[in-house]
Amino acid sequence: MTRSNPLYQVRYAVRHPAKVLPHLRRLTRDAWFRLRTRDHVSYYRRVMKSDTARSPEAAVGSKSHARWLALGQMQFDYLVGHGLKPGMRMLEIGCGNLRAGRLFIDYLDAGDYYGVDISPDILMAAQDVLVQYKLQDKLPRLTPVRDLRLAFLPDEHFDVVHAHSVFSHSPLHVIEECFAHVGRVMKPGGWFDFTFDRTEGREHQVLREDFYYRTETLLDLAARYGLAARFMDDWEKLPHKQSKIRITKE
Ligand SMILES: C[S@@+](CC[C@H](N)C(=O)[O-])C[C@H]1O[C@@H](n2cnc3c(N)ncnc32)[C@H](O)[C@@H]1O
Repeated sequence: MTRSNPLYQVRYAVRHPAKVLPHLRRLTRDAWFRLRTRDHVSYYRRVMKSDTARSPEAAVGSKSHARWLALGQMQFDYLVGHGLKPGMRMLEIGCGNLRAGRLFIDYLDAGDYYGVDISPDILMAAQDVLVQYKLQDKLPRLTPVRDLRLAFLPDEHFDVVHAHSVFSHSPLHVIEECFAHVGRVMKPGGWFDFTFDRTEGREHQVLREDFYYRTETLLDLAARYGLAARFMDDWEKLPHKQSKIRITKE
């Protein structure tokens, strides 16, 4: 039974009564945002604006500062353990307030980190993190985007592309847009790691905020754009609810 099933929701509410009111508030707020926006990206940008105003760390999904630090470290350790090295150029899609980005920026050479996000509000919070961690000399680029066509970036520029907890908030057409264009900006031999909310059952979404996909859907979609993709089994051992896929460019 999926999270979008009313029976699942009633059972969940009975087990977690304290979550009912906040969920209803979110449901109402999101319905209002959907009425006021014309597409998913504009809608989700509005969600991020509202969430970031309350807490940038909570807006990227961390319930506490300790979790924010731990989730950044987990992404960083995994990527370094899987080939990231100084001298490489990295594009982070949906960089948020640099939960992991601050560690990538510190590790890579100056100017080699490029973060993009649909939310100008979270990018301003990212600037605060740069100041807090004294990373100004690393001159990272942080750029707001309205889509994932990446048209303003050069051909074959990045060794590594990273998107953590971004496709878990994206309808399939947004992911498809990314797959259609990301190969162009990747160097031959480069790779693109992304996480997603995996379901073994029916694909579904909750509040147009959280999207659940079957692994094959994303592997097949990548193949349609000539991208070789594989499920990262060892990521499953880490304490994280999402799964990870790696796309490589020959
Ligand atoms: C859950 S947060 C994760 C942020 C960061 N990757 C991290 O791990 O801390 C998701 C981020 O992706 C951004 N985002 C969502 N959809 C996007 C899209 N289609 N293109 C670029 N950024 C997107 C959101 O604005 C938000 O900052």
